Amino acid sequence: MLNIVVCVSGGGTNLQAIMDAVSNGQITNTKIAGVISNNPGAFALERAQKAGIPSFCISPKSYESREDFNEAFLAKMDELNPDLIVLAGFLVVIPEKMIQKFKNRIINIHPSLIPSFCGTGYYGLKVHEAALDRGVKVVGATVHFVDEGTDTGPIIYQKPVMVEEGDTPEVLQRRVMEQAEWIILPKAIDAIANGKIKVKDGKVVQA
Ligand code: GRF
Repeated sequence: MLNIVVCVSGGGTNLQAIMDAVSNGQITNTKIAGVISNNPGAFALERAQKAGIPSFCISPKSYESREDFNEAFLAKMDELNPDLIVLAGFLVVIPEKMIQKFKNRIINIHPSLIPSFCGTGYYGLKVHEAALDRGVKVVGATVHFVDEGTDTGPIIYQKPVMVEEGDTPEVLQRRVMEQAEWIILPKAIDAIANGKIKVKDGKVVQA
């Protein structure tokens, strides 16, 4: 059984997709051990509570320093002791110590086809604004392992989504969520839970 902790900051639609996939059997051999948010107002926390999943808010604003927050965040993660950490719309930089301790055991969903529109400053709606500004015709989402960089770890799955005439950033964001994020993130968790993939020479391959 793969124990996962899902880290969230906002609406939690990716968390909801994971919870639904566990319930309907699209994700097997997996248990959501907990949900952690940095944002006390995150609707994702309400989604977790409604589903009876232990949820915790650990906000950097509640700590004197970033180091103190990092320590508290890591302590809670150690307490939950997951096999896999899933960053689902999580907007906090992951502490170096956590990345080292959970090497190739942290995954992230990013709303673009990495290496486009990713890295520092590219998150949430900003990603879609940049894609529309550039005039690309195809966007999509990427789920990847987290390493020391920003959106630079080994890519697990990607899924393309077409840009349509007249798209606003909000409309495009929603389509990327519906047609890509909510599909490849659960798929990646199920693949890891059932030993279907591994990292070899910095690339994800079939196990
Ligand atoms: C989404 O745009 C997602 O791609 C990004 O965070 C945003 C909010 O996701 N990672 P959610 O609704 O909180 O899952």
